Amino acid sequence: MGFGVLGVFLGLLLEVSTHGPHAVPRTSWKHQDIDLMEFSEPGIFNYSTLLLSEERDALYVGAREAIFELSKKNVTVRNNKVQWTVAETPMTMCTLKGKSKEKDCLNYIRVLQVLDDKRLYVCGTHAFQPQCDYLSLSDFSLAGRAEDGRGKCSFDPSQSFTTVMVDGELYSGTAYNFLGSEPIISRYSPSQSLLRTEYSTSWLNEPSFVFADVIREGRNRADGEDDKIYYFFTEVSVEYEFFGKLLIPRVARVCKGDLGGQRTLQKKWTSFLKAKLVCSMPELNFVFNVVHDVFILKAADWRETVIYGVFTSQWGNVGLSAVCAYNMTTVEEVFSKGKYMQKATVEQSHTKWVRYNGMTPSPRPGACINNLNRQQNISSSLHLPDKTLQFVKDHPLLEDPVLPIGNGPRLITKDVNYTQIVVERVHALDRNIYDVIFTGTDKGVLHKSVVYEGEVHIVEEIQLLKTSESIKNLLLSSQTRSLYAGSDSGVVQSPTAFCDRYLSCDECVLARDPYCAWDPRTTACVNIFDTPSQRHRSLIQSLNGDADKCPSVPGLSLQDYQRVTVKPGSSAELPCLVHSNLAQVMWKANGSALTEASRFHLIGETGLLIYSVAPEDQGHYECWSLEWAPAAGKNFSRLLAGYFLTLDLPPRPPYQAGHKTTTLRSGLGNQETSGTQASAGNGKTGRPPLTSAPAPPSSTATVLFTSPPQTDSSLTPPPSSTIRFQPKQHLPPSSNPPRPETQDPAAEYLQHNNSTALLFLFLLFFLLFLAALAYNCYMQYLPAPCLRLRAALLGTHKNPIQPEYRACEAGLMEPPVTEKLDLTEHPTQNGSQVTQTQLRALRDTGYETEPECGNGRIPSHSFGEDSPSQEKPFDVDCESQPIEFADADEPYC
Ligand SMILES: *[C@@H]1O[C@H](CO)[C@@H](O)[C@H](O)[C@H]1NC(C)=O
Ligand SMILES: *[C@@H]1O[C@H](CO)[C@@H](O)[C@H](O)[C@H]1NC(C)=O
Ligand SMILES: *[C@@H]1O[C@H](CO)[C@@H](O)[C@H](O)[C@H]1NC(C)=O
Ligand SMILES: *[C@@H]1O[C@H](CO)[C@@H](O)[C@H](O)[C@H]1NC(C)=O
Ligand SMILES: *[C@@H]1O[C@H](CO)[C@@H](O)[C@H](O)[C@H]1NC(C)=O
Ligand SMILES: *[C@@H]1O[C@H](CO)[C@@H](O)[C@H](O)[C@H]1NC(C)=O
Repeated sequence: MGFGVLGVFLGLLLEVSTHGPHAVPRTSWKHQDIDLMEFSEPGIFNYSTLLLSEERDALYVGAREAIFELSKKNVTVRNNKVQWTVAETPMTMCTLKGKSKEKDCLNYIRVLQVLDDKRLYVCGTHAFQPQCDYLSLSDFSLAGRAEDGRGKCSFDPSQSFTTVMVDGELYSGTAYNFLGSEPIISRYSPSQSLLRTEYSTSWLNEPSFVFADVIREGRNRADGEDDKIYYFFTEVSVEYEFFGKLLIPRVARVCKGDLGGQRTLQKKWTSFLKAKLVCSMPELNFVFNVVHDVFILKAADWRETVIYGVFTSQWGNVGLSAVCAYNMTTVEEVFSKGKYMQKATVEQSHTKWVRYNGMTPSPRPGACINNLNRQQNISSSLHLPDKTLQFVKDHPLLEDPVLPIGNGPRLITKDVNYTQIVVERVHALDRNIYDVIFTGTDKGVLHKSVVYEGEVHIVEEIQLLKTSESIKNLLLSSQTRSLYAGSDSGVVQSPTAFCDRYLSCDECVLARDPYCAWDPRTTACVNIFDTPSQRHRSLIQSLNGDADKCPSVPGLSLQDYQRVTVKPGSSAELPCLVHSNLAQVMWKANGSALTEASRFHLIGETGLLIYSVAPEDQGHYECWSLEWAPAAGKNFSRLLAGYFLTLDLPPRPPYQAGHKTTTLRSGLGNQETSGTQASAGNGKTGRPPLTSAPAPPSSTATVLFTSPPQTDSSLTPPPSSTIRFQPKQHLPPSSNPPRPETQDPAAEYLQHNNSTALLFLFLLFFLLFLAALAYNCYMQYLPAPCLRLRAALLGTHKNPIQPEYRACEAGLMEPPVTEKLDLTEHPTQNGSQVTQTQLRALRDTGYETEPECGNGRIPSHSFGEDSPSQEKPFDVDCESQPIEFADADEPYC
């Protein structure tokens, strides 16, 4: 049965990865192309904790057994360093518990938070016995007052974890025990006891914490609402049934003023609520269900605050990453008005989560204390009635999901795994505000994207790290206009824009980078934040990429073309580099475009290669870049290079044809023309006839070329498919991109004939399905008709249907869908029920898996006589399932 379901799944994933929308970065910068500042020290690794201090102009870095203070302006400058190693006793204890001395039992600094002007609060994993200490900034030394770090820092250096310091109190999301099996969201404050989550799967179920931050409500808010701390994590869902662990991205929040309950929820959060974060493509029914990082773009008014998250799918092989954005108002709304979910026992065998439709106690469970409560003499969570507290303890999950702005991702990218995100709000010259999204990948690459009128444009990708490793931390400083990336091997500082790399106005404008504009006076692409604002009016910037705003540049005359002279029969390479991945290269010979029919040409990434140059090949060649700017709705063509190819005829025959390649070092560089050059070209196909002008004396030519290249079988002609206008590869995960001519033709076939490939895959899955069916039939898993067939084939006379099997067979065959529908008719004992609307809503999110089960199962009419047993409930006679974990772990299909 599993086969069918899997087939549907894989089919869906293939569909999404081939047909789903995804963006391509326009420009790719290699590590060596750009000036980056890097810091690392020999023998020190895991530079994964970063803290920026704008006041002290410092970047604090927590690495393995060391803390550094680097200059914020230049991270290669190390101002301070302190080491924090593990003493012998804890190290021995750690190794005795089976952890490795070289890796796990070291001290990984994971918490670096500003406590006050003079001190940082620092925690490390400290050989699986987390400890915290105070770091004095005046002499950069640790106080040596090691505090227990349990609940503040993880035990395991590789376990996910998050912290935020708010008003001197440390909020963490981590694990509370050595095994890492007891997840906890806690608050540590010097004056109060630890406030924490209840240890229960309905509060936290195997979470992976990614981020936490505070949202201030503002002092003058009339309703006296409290500040809130939001946590973001991925956990195993309790509310959906799935044949494995279904992960789900969540946002949870607690109130800053929470003090726990008086009797119920003592020293536990009384304000812990969580909701599902949705990041999906509804049109393709595809869900990004793992959140990796979150950035909160704060605004003066909390209503304008936007939460950005990077997501991938649990099924990593699809190779898609997405960025979704959430309006803070929407999040608030869900927490303050959303319906609660409730655990209900179904058919005595397992529990389900359904919407709670009963009366909710007052004050609203999980709400922060506000002025209204204070009027009712509830001035703190200690005064909350037990009814409210008991309710929130049992119902921490809200039913309403948090939907993204625009109901879909802002950005979808193929073949990358985003790990980190930061966002900066930029005022462009058009007086609009743009959110520039920087995303780091698991291969050390940074993507910079801008949202323009709801559409996303990836301005550039930058190979930030020398090696292909994950970006573990990413920070942005608007002050230094720099990004700081932490990885296992070091820290890298990169500018937020590379305007000076664009050498022409067209390049500068087509880049659509809100930081960059063309200065016609200095004829340079400049960073607008480096330019005095009185000069801004003369700068040229067009975020839709309308390069027609650029001043026109005089066109090239034929005399400007670079002369290339080659020996007959040798090959000529005419270089031409296109910097944009969105541009197509077009070569023109004598003014007409070279097409596939010009069989002796090869258009590669670096230029045009002409094999065995013949007299007909002489003439002028132009390399054009054609770029489609969708936001401007125009094509822009630019002449990048021009050549005049002539043959160097030897004084006397006979001539030995060789294969020497003449390579030219330079093209026309950055000269450009606007508009397309009109030219009286020859016919597009084939080789134009030899005509006048720079042609060699015809007599020599005829002697030299007794066999024309077209028919010369000794020269292996390149396959006709080598001519192609293809956009450049973007940054490869490894160093060398495959040259287009060496690409596997099969891969190309797959790319260009998706429909055939899909048909093929469909057939494959169908065959697999048939095989599974036959196998199940053979193994007696299927009922009567099948078994009769089997008996006929195998000639056995034993009656295979033993009564005690029947029920289980029926159980095995029974899809949970019927049971689910039953629910709609019979309210459960707690008065709640699943409505059709809710079912539809579940399905709309794409988390729902029943349709897949339905598709995968054998249609019921194929074993008609068995229908009475079909009416039996799912759980008859089969092994009873453990109730608590039934939702998360039990396979249903
Ligand atoms: C620390 O860095 C080393 C070396 O790059 C790496 O192998 C290891 O996985 C890292 N450990 C953690 C916990 O990040
Ligand atoms: C969020 O939604 C609120 C209310 O619909 C709206 O006033 C606000 O402008 C939105 N904020 C953003 C950043 O879209
Ligand atoms: C609140 O407490 C005060 C003083 O203890 C009392 O006078 C008042 O009636 C109380 N108000 C409510 C709504 O219980
Ligand atoms: C993304 O991560 C998944 C799981 O770690 C891995 O299987 C996949 O190869 C990665 N994809 C890319 C493009 O790096
Ligand atoms: C270009 O034109 C010249 C003269 O008109 C001719 O000799 C030559 O063969 C042409 N070359 C190509 C590649 O069309
Ligand atoms: C732009 O160029 C592309 C490729 O050459 C072409 O397919 C498309 O029709 C052009 N669009 C416009 C509006 O000229």
